[in-house]
Order: sequence, then C-alpha cells, then structure tokens
Amino acid sequence: MSAILPAFESFIADLRAVWARESGLPRRMELATERLGALVRDPALQKHTESWPSTEGHKNLLLHSDDEHGFVVNAVVRVPGLFGSVHDHAHAYTAYGVCHGAEYLERYERLDDGSREGYADIKLVSTTIGTAGVVDLVPPWAIHAEQGGDRRSCAIIIRSERLVGKVLQGNYDAAAKTVAQRSGPTQVPYELKV
Ligand SMILES: [Fe+2]
Repeated sequence: MSAILPAFESFIADLRAVWARESGLPRRMELATERLGALVRDPALQKHTESWPSTEGHKNLLLHSDDEHGFVVNAVVRVPGLFGSVHDHAHAYTAYGVCHGAEYLERYERLDDGSREGYADIKLVSTTIGTAGVVDLVPPWAIHAEQGGDRRSCAIIIRSERLVGKVLQGNYDAAAKTVAQRSGPTQVPYELKV
C-alpha cells in the first residue's frame, strides 16, 4: 500500500488542529483558507494534480471527510471550457483554492428580496482570475460560480460540512431569473497516494 502525499497529510493534520483549537466557524475557515493557500502552492501537490480524473457531470473528488470535526476536502478537475453553474452553498462555508491552470471566479448580487418562490434576479458583480495559488473564501449564501478556462484546471475545496444529504445548494439561472434547490455534487472517493 502506498503512502498519502506528505503535503496533503500534513494539511489534514493542520486542519484538524485548527478545528480542535478554535470554536467559531468563521475563525476556523479563515485559518483553513490560509493553510489551503500554502497547499495549493506546493510543487509536489501541483505535480500530483496532473493525474487526477475529470469531475465533469456534477462530481467532486472526495479527498477527505473528517468524521470527528465534520469538514470535507474535495477536488474539482475541469477539462478545458467546463463551465460551472451559478450557485450558493446554503449556510456552509467553502474555501476554493486553484492548484493547477486558471479559472474565472464569479460573484453575483441578488437584486430581489427572495420572497417569491423559485424566482431570483441576480447580477454578475465581479470576476476574478484564479491562477494556481489563489484561494477564494465563499461565505454562507454567497452566490458564485467557478468557470473553466481554455486549459485544464484543478482546485481543492474545503467545505465546513458535507453537502450531500444535509446541505442543499441553490442553483441559479440568471437569464431565466430562477432558483432551484438541489443536492451537492456526487462524491467520488479519491486518495492522494505518492
Ligand atoms: Fe461553489
């Protein structure tokens, strides 16, 4: 049996230490975001991404699910031109770190008051180019999308809790002005072996 990539193993140990030490979720995610920044700049981790399978079809690689503290670490691998949907993560926090290639990180503002079932009027307010090493901390209910570029890209995601089953996500269609609830991506277990 081969070992887990050392950079990833120490990353998980550090996250577990943060969750054990800090009680507030905003502070945990702030520290987790800093730590994710170091991981996604790690040359061994970046090299490892070259063999990761595509997550096309609303999938995520499941790199770690922490039974004790409840956080989850996922990866997304976009083939060139793979666009993401506009969505939120309900009350969960997400830290999104690009580790290979480049993506467009979009943020949207909601213009209506959310009182009409299934209706949402949203406007694109910013697009940041996320190159390898850039981490975006997405707070609860923030409406956003990550879009692939013209070459393959990979990102590592820390979620404050599991999305499947418990936490739904809102999916938005800006042109049709609709919002619908759906469950998070399909989780595909994937170990980062040396
Ligand atoms: Fe997201």
